Amino acid sequence: MLKERQSWAIKDAALLGELGTLLAIDDNDALLLGQLTAQAEQSAPEMIETFYQRLLAHPATAEYLEDVSMERLRSMTSGWFMDLFRGPHDSDYVQRRIAIGHIHVRIGLPIRYPLAMLDVILHFGTKITQHSENPEAALSAFQKLVALDIAIFNQAYEDHQLRHLTHLVGNERLARRLLMQEQQT
Ligand code: HEM
Repeated sequence: MLKERQSWAIKDAALLGELGTLLAIDDNDALLLGQLTAQAEQSAPEMIETFYQRLLAHPATAEYLEDVSMERLRSMTSGWFMDLFRGPHDSDYVQRRIAIGHIHVRIGLPIRYPLAMLDVILHFGTKITQHSENPEAALSAFQKLVALDIAIFNQAYEDHQLRHLTHLVGNERLARRLLMQEQQT
């Protein structure tokens, strides 16, 4: 017998409420990160340089960048990075990031690449937090927001698979059952 799980009903912007609670993201986190906005803006060009140099140096990721406007991409990714600090970390923020996740699903990019590239985000973000009046708390806040991004990226990919499987088999419950490899009865 397949047990219904509460988590299955939590979708899209509702993820913020759920994960915000799970990660204990609070107003002080937003305040500390917001105070680092100018520092983040200063570091963003170098972060973007490192980010795309790494993707372009790796043939399996470079081929995704062949037919896109790199200028637009750099600016969009820079904005994504800046938003992490300046917020507001509201439901629009989560929706925008889910949509960005879906864009990566749609270009057929394996999830391991965006997740691996968070290394660059972590490196630059961690350095930025050292400029805070409270570096330890700022680092903890930054790590929570990165954990939220890891969850969002993964969720975007999982949503996509589930949606297609649901379409194929007729309902989400059966699709979940197949993904769990549970025997159909
Ligand atoms: C931390 C990881 C990543 C972040 C934060 C990120 C961020 C973004 C953002 C903000 C956009 C623009 C979305 C829009 O048009 O609204 C985008 C698009 C895109 N990203 Fe990423 N990205 C990441 C990883 C990657 C990786 C690993 C690749 C592999 C090469 C990649 C390739 C692309 C491509 C090709 C587009 C353009 C898609 C299109 O417009 O058709 N991204 N990304």
